[in-house]
Amino acid sequence: MHFLGIDIGTGGSRAVVIDTAGRVVASATEDHAAFASPHIGWAEQDPRDWWRASSSAVRRVLSREIPAASIGAVGLSGQMHGSVFLDKADEVIRPALLWCDQRTESQCEQITRKIGRERLIEMVANPAITGFTLPKLLWLRENEPENWAAVRTVLLPKDFVRMRLTSDKASDVADSSGTLLFDVKRRKWSAEMLDMMGLDRRLMPEVFESTAQTGVVSPSGAEETGLIPGTPVIAGAGDNAAGAIGMGIVRPGAMSATIGTSGVVFVVTAAPTYDPNGRTHTLCHAVPGRWHMTGVTLGAGLSLKWFRENSGGGADFAELDQEAAMIDSGSNGAIWLPYLMGERTPHLDPNARAAFVGLSANHTRGHLARAVMEGVAFSLRDSIEIFRSLGVEASSIRLGGGGARSHLWRQIQADVYGRTVETIAADEGAAFGAAILAGVGVGAWPSVDEACDAAVKLSDRIDPSEDPLLSLERNYGVYRALYRALRDAGVWSN
Ligand code: XUL
Repeated sequence: MHFLGIDIGTGGSRAVVIDTAGRVVASATEDHAAFASPHIGWAEQDPRDWWRASSSAVRRVLSREIPAASIGAVGLSGQMHGSVFLDKADEVIRPALLWCDQRTESQCEQITRKIGRERLIEMVANPAITGFTLPKLLWLRENEPENWAAVRTVLLPKDFVRMRLTSDKASDVADSSGTLLFDVKRRKWSAEMLDMMGLDRRLMPEVFESTAQTGVVSPSGAEETGLIPGTPVIAGAGDNAAGAIGMGIVRPGAMSATIGTSGVVFVVTAAPTYDPNGRTHTLCHAVPGRWHMTGVTLGAGLSLKWFRENSGGGADFAELDQEAAMIDSGSNGAIWLPYLMGERTPHLDPNARAAFVGLSANHTRGHLARAVMEGVAFSLRDSIEIFRSLGVEASSIRLGGGGARSHLWRQIQADVYGRTVETIAADEGAAFGAAILAGVGVGAWPSVDEACDAAVKLSDRIDPSEDPLLSLERNYGVYRALYRALRDAGVWSN
């Protein structure tokens, strides 16, 4: 028996098949068309392209060794917060607005004004920020009233794929938590929030715990994917929670730091815990009865990619890594602020800008590359410090994404976080987590905890350096002061 996980990302859809020991036995990725940006800051994709890509990725993982009949269940994961607008025939009305779309600043202000900042955090656990779903609905209502009049259902990205696969309209608690319409504490739609926003409850699909079965593959879903009609489909989760499952981040106190294009610090809690200032997100975890907080930094791997492309000399990542490894911790006082795309945690400032500070004629490309790696780790530490201030601590942190592949960046993270860092053997991302949830959903493992104990293996542990790294601590102190100093000096205007 096998379990299939499908992750509908932004760049592409990925299908991963695991066996009953949790080993990955096949995977395939199919690219999406790049997202359209008809105006600066807009990001839109055609949901039908997600279905094309995900059904094709599924067909590619099925084979003589992995026949469709061996797939015991399917689990779904996907990019969060996006809004798919469907009409009464369940047809797509217009391209979906994505998680990284920034057009809704004025709708966010309206929501905050109407509900009040504190009340909003009490009701839906999060402040109104442009990425989340509700402001996208209000934008459509205000700006495209004809399209809005036709809307009968709003789905999150992976749930559109579910609808095509099973004919059911359903979602899970983890992904729904990112809509601003979900009572995260009680794990159900917030009737009060829907009411106050003048939205009909029937717009939103039925919500399930991440391990619950929402339906089965329909005859038409089977025809397009090659799966067998009747195969159980499990609720799954948004990509952050599913990714955490894939890294074994399931028990309260477990923490991960992932450096992809953006960076995410994710921590599991036994009860919903909020930052009263709304700098981190609070959402349901894909494990029944547990929640999680995330801090999101926007320019993580992006910072090093930008530096590589623009620092001259055409160095590749391995060369930069080698040069940076020759430099002492603290980069001889060079500090990088990674706000290339503005910042979510901790500043919630779309206008913030990046900076190199503290340079002298003695600094080399290696110093700067190291400063970039340290600066990205500082921005993730900001989230860890917020969690600590709320009483949420972790003794070790699991690392994921491209940033976990460099030994140097792992050591830098251990030193900056002051924690032992661990890496896992198969960094297969959210599709792997979705496959684990599928297995739990049909009873292959008694619980998500036990599934992760069986399927997720550690490959490496690094302790923080023995000598206290005063230069690094000093730089972090300066880093903390720099955001406000540069903002107040007018380096960017807001
Ligand atoms: C989470 C978020 C992103 C998307 C990317 O809050 O906006 O991680 O889920 O797919």
